[in-house]
Amino acid sequence: MGNPLYRDYEKLVEITIMGKKFQVPEKNICLRAFQYVSPETIPYGRFCWNQECQLCRVVYAMAGQEGAPPRPILACKVLVAEGMQIVELSDELKWNLSGVLKPAEPRPPLE
Ligand code: FES
Repeated sequence: MGNPLYRDYEKLVEITIMGKKFQVPEKNICLRAFQYVSPETIPYGRFCWNQECQLCRVVYAMAGQEGAPPRPILACKVLVAEGMQIVELSDELKWNLSGVLKPAEPRPPLE
């Protein structure tokens, strides 16, 4: 779909990051999906992108597999999947995704 940052994809899949839903390109690694939702911060994270630094560690579960224990993974290694629920983030990812994960401020009243 045009952007060379992402592997070719035909559709977006829905994932949940710390309880918040996002649409991200299928067939891409999780860290690239995080970049899709926060393109202004993820490129400036201290990520090696090649499974060495461990700064992209997350824990995930899958929707529909409620009995299965959450699993730790490296976001630069694993592909996103429809229904993926990211339930824990590394400190580096928390910092990089804080802008998209924090609740919206209430809109100020009109004066
Ligand atoms: S970005 Fe370094 S291990 Fe994933």
